[in-house]
Amino acid sequence: MAIRNIVKDGDDILRKKCREVVKFDDRLHTLLDDMAETMHDAEGVGLAGPQVGVLRRVAVVDVGEGVIELVNPVIIKTEGEQESAEGCLSFPGEYGITKRPMFVTVKAQDRNGEFFEISGEELLAKAFCHEIDHLDGIVYKDIAVRMLLPEELEQ
Ligand code: NI
Repeated sequence: MAIRNIVKDGDDILRKKCREVVKFDDRLHTLLDDMAETMHDAEGVGLAGPQVGVLRRVAVVDVGEGVIELVNPVIIKTEGEQESAEGCLSFPGEYGITKRPMFVTVKAQDRNGEFFEISGEELLAKAFCHEIDHLDGIVYKDIAVRMLLPEELEQ
């Protein structure tokens, strides 16, 4: 496993739409391992392919309950709403208020291509939405109700 460089604000790759994963091979497994290690090293709760320079539909999420690997994820159900602060490893030090669903169900494939469904609420629901947006070139700042001011960050 290896820690990869995280793509930062200003890099066009964050704005590109990712292609589906079609090969569930060692290369994918290494990518997923590296993404999890990179996310943990940066103390983030999610990381998507474009953030490590890979335009494939892959993401990892860990809200403290273990790593969830999402390959070709699609949101199939949402419910409710939450308004809360959100940040991104590609925009260090910045936070914004977003509106996201409170409950989200995702259909995805695992690293071997097996389909599964997973549901999450609150932070996990937010992370699923945030990471899947990345795969379509969307960053949370695009949908933020407003960004937090410097004096609010210190609280
Ligand atoms: Ni992000």
